[in-house]
Amino acid sequence: MRITDDLPYCKTNYFCKLLVALLLFCLALPLKSFGIYDPGKAYLFAYTLDGSKDRHGLYIAWSTDKLNWHAIGPQHTFVYSDYGTWGAEKRMNNPFLYHHTDGTWHAVWGVNDHDATFAYASSKDLIHWKPQSYPPINTDGPILMPQINRQGGEFIVSWKNARGEKAESFAVKTSDFSSYSSVIPIATTDTRVTVEIDGTPENGTIHEVSWDVIEKLINSRDLAAYRSSLYRETTDQDPQRFANLETLTAKVKVLAERKKQISDQLIGVFYEDINYAADGGIYGELIQNRDFEYHPLERKNNDPNWNALTAWEVLTDHKIDSTQPIHKNNKHYLVLQPKNSGALVRNLGYDGISVKGGEKYDLSLFVKEIEGDNVLQISLKDRQGTSYGTTQIRVKGTFWKKHKAVIKTKSAGDELFLEIQLQKPSSIALDMISLFPRNTFNNRTNGLRQDLAQVIADINPKFVRFPGGCVAHGDGLENIYNWKHTVGPLEARIPQRNIWGYHQSVGLGYFEYFQFCEDIDATPIPIIAAGVPCQNSSTGGAGQQCGLPMEEMDAYIQDILDLIEWANGPADSKWGSVRAKAGHPKPFNLKYIGIGNEDLISDVFIERFTMIYNAIQKAHPEITVIGTVGPFSSGSDYEEGWRLADELDIPMVDEHYYQPPGWFIHNQDFYDTYDRSKSKVYLGEYAAHLPGRPNNIETALSEALYLTSIERNGDIVEMSSYAPLLAKEGSTQWNPDLIYFDNSQVHLTPGYYVQKLFGNHGGTLYFDHQLKLSNNSGDVKKRVAVSSVLDESSNELIIKLVNLLPVAVETQLDLDEFNLAPRSASMHTLSGHPDDESATPQKSEVDLDNSKSFNLKPYSLQVIRIKLL
Ligand code: AHR
Repeated sequence: MRITDDLPYCKTNYFCKLLVALLLFCLALPLKSFGIYDPGKAYLFAYTLDGSKDRHGLYIAWSTDKLNWHAIGPQHTFVYSDYGTWGAEKRMNNPFLYHHTDGTWHAVWGVNDHDATFAYASSKDLIHWKPQSYPPINTDGPILMPQINRQGGEFIVSWKNARGEKAESFAVKTSDFSSYSSVIPIATTDTRVTVEIDGTPENGTIHEVSWDVIEKLINSRDLAAYRSSLYRETTDQDPQRFANLETLTAKVKVLAERKKQISDQLIGVFYEDINYAADGGIYGELIQNRDFEYHPLERKNNDPNWNALTAWEVLTDHKIDSTQPIHKNNKHYLVLQPKNSGALVRNLGYDGISVKGGEKYDLSLFVKEIEGDNVLQISLKDRQGTSYGTTQIRVKGTFWKKHKAVIKTKSAGDELFLEIQLQKPSSIALDMISLFPRNTFNNRTNGLRQDLAQVIADINPKFVRFPGGCVAHGDGLENIYNWKHTVGPLEARIPQRNIWGYHQSVGLGYFEYFQFCEDIDATPIPIIAAGVPCQNSSTGGAGQQCGLPMEEMDAYIQDILDLIEWANGPADSKWGSVRAKAGHPKPFNLKYIGIGNEDLISDVFIERFTMIYNAIQKAHPEITVIGTVGPFSSGSDYEEGWRLADELDIPMVDEHYYQPPGWFIHNQDFYDTYDRSKSKVYLGEYAAHLPGRPNNIETALSEALYLTSIERNGDIVEMSSYAPLLAKEGSTQWNPDLIYFDNSQVHLTPGYYVQKLFGNHGGTLYFDHQLKLSNNSGDVKKRVAVSSVLDESSNELIIKLVNLLPVAVETQLDLDEFNLAPRSASMHTLSGHPDDESATPQKSEVDLDNSKSFNLKPYSLQVIRIKLL
C-alpha cells in the first residue's frame, strides 16, 4: 500500500501546502475546543449506520469522556463489507469490534437477513484490513448481531438467529478465525452499547485506546479526503484552475545514453463477452438462439420471456422437443406441425439482421422429418416483405441431417429477419440454424465479423486476454468458465449462462480465440478461474467462500493441464488431437496462463490458487503463470495478493483499476518505486472513468498520460490492456468501452485511438529525458508528459508528448544526442475538446531539418516518429 502517493507533489506545490495546513488546522479545532492536544488515552466507538439504505461500512467515533463523541469523517468508512453481489447487497449490519491483547482488531458483522454466515476481518491498525472471510455455518436461519468474546483461550463468535422473542443464541468457537467448531447453543447477551453522536443514538462497541490510535485514524481519513479531492479533478475545473495560464514553452532533451530495455508487449487487448461482445457482436453468427437453448435462468429473476423461442417468431403450430436431440449437449429443438402449406418461422437476429449487398451468406441447419418430407424456402426479408436473397432446401429422412446452402444478397439491408417457409403441411424438426457472412475476418469458417476483428487487429495488440474478466471466474461455482465446453463441433458445445445476464452460445470458443490470436500475431492469454467464482456472485450462496470442494480440485487442475496440452501438445496427444481435428495440427504456442481474476484473496482462494500454481509449475515450467492481486490499486486484496506473489514467487501478477482521470494524473509515479526484484506486472484492466462514463478526449488523454509512465516502467510492467474492449450500442452492461458497434457500423472512441497509437508506435528501448517547462506549478507539470522509445526493428525514435492543459505547449526537442536521418519524421496528433467523443488522430509529415519545434495543442497527444541513421 502506497501511503505517500501524492506527497512528493505536495512538497513542491504551494497550494497543496496550504491545503495540508488547513486540514491540520481543522483537525486541531475539535481538540482545541476541548483544550486537549494529547489526552494520552481516549475511547473509540465502532459502529455503522442503517444498512438497509446505503453501503456504509465501519465508522469510528472518538471521545475522551464517553459522553461527547466525535465521528471521524464524520462518515469515513474504515472497511466496507464485500459480501454478496453489487446493488442491494454488500451491506454491513451491526459490526462488532474486539480488541485482542496481541493488538489485533477482530471485526464481525451480519451480512443479511437470510444467509447462515457472518463476515470476519482483522486489522492491526483499523486502517489496513486483511481480506474478509464469510465462514459457512451449519445452522438454520440467518446470523444476526454476531459478537466476539474470549473464553478459555478461544474466541467465541455468538449470534442470534432471529429478531425479537423467537431469537435463540448460538455460537462457534475458533482460535484463528479460519476453522470453526460446530454450532453450540449458548446463553448470551448483546454487549454492544448505545451512544449519542450528533444527537443520534448509535449502537456499537467502545474500546479504550491510546490517543495516538485516534490520531492515526484521523490522519488516515484526512489523507483519504485529500487524495479523493485530487482524484476528483476534472477538466471542467480547468477554467478556474488554469485561469491565468498562457501558452507554455517546453524544452525536451532526450538522453541517448540514459536508456533501458523495456517490454516488447506493452499493449494488448482485454477481450470479454460483456456488452454482447461475442454473440451478436464479433462472432459472425447472424442467427440469435440458433440452437433453441436459451433458458429463463440465464437472466436475473428467472425471466420467462428468455426461453427456447427467444428471437424466434413461429407462425404455425409448433413445440420445443428434446427427445433424440442432435447431441446430448444441445437438448432442445423446434418441431413445426403445420396444418397448411406456407407455414412460417422467422429468426429476428440480434435486433435484426444486417447484410451487405452482393455478398454470399453461408446457411446451415439440421433438419429431420417427423411426418413426411418437405421443401424449405429460406429467405432474408424485411417487414415490407421484400426479399434480399433466398435459397431452397429439401428435407428427406427421419434422422438429423446437416444441410448447407448459400444466400446471395441482392442489396444491402438492415433490420432483416431470416424466414423459413414450409412448402408442405408436413411436420419437421429444426436445430442449429445458422447464417454467417462468407466474408469473415481472414475468411475463417465459424469466423469473426470482419470489421470488428479488423479494428482490433489495427491496434497491433501484442496479446489478447480472454475470456474475461468476470466471465472467466463466473457467477457462482456452476458458472466458472469451462474451456472444454467451448471446443469441438458447434452442436456438441455446452452453452453457458453469461454472468452479465445473457446467453453464451460458445460458438466463439477457445479454438476461435487462439485462431484469432494467431491471425493477428498476438500472444494468447487465457484466464482461468482459481477454483473460486466471482466474489460478487449473486448465485451459489456465501459469496467468495464457495470455492470448489477439495475433492473436485484434482479434476479441475487436470482440466488446466489439459488446456496446455490442447494448445501446445503434439497432434497425436490426447488433447492435441482435439485441436488437430478442429483444423490446427500445429501447436498454438501458449506461453502464459492467468489464474484468477481480481479475486478476493481469501484463505479459500489462496489454498486453491497455490494448488493450481504448483501443479502448473511442476508439469509445465515453461508456462508463465499470472497471478491476481484483486480489483483495486490498493486495499486488502492488493496487499494480500502481492504478499502471496512474494511468497510463491509468482512471475507476474494481474493488476486492475478503474479510476477517475484525476487518479491517473496524480499517480504517474505508481510504478516508479516498484521493487524490480519482485513479480512483473500485467496491468490487465484499467480505464479512466468520469461521471456518466463517457469515452472522450479527457479520459483518453489521462490514459495516454499514464501510458507514458507505463512505458517508463516497461522494465517492470510487462503488459497492459484497457478494459472492456467491445460494446454493442443499446446492449451495454458496462461503460466506457473501447469500441462501440451496432449490426453494421463500428464506432471508435478517443480511448481506442490512444491504444492504437501506443500499440503501433511502441519500442523496446526507453530513453530518459529532461523536461523544462516555462511554468513549474505542480498542477501544470502533472499534465504534461513525455516518453521516448526506440523501435529497434525500424531504427526509429518515437516521442510521445501529452498535453492535458487548456493551453498549447510550444515544445522544442533537443535530439542532439541522436543521428537523425534527413526529413524523416511523421507525426500523429489526437486532440479536441475534453468532452469530444469522436475525435480522430491526424497524420502529418514533419521537416525536422528546419525546426524541432512543435505546437503541442491544448488537450492533445502527439506521437512523433523519427528515422535514425
Ligand atoms: O471489464 C469489466 C469488468 O471489470 C471485468 O469483467 C471484471 O474483471 C472487472 O471488474
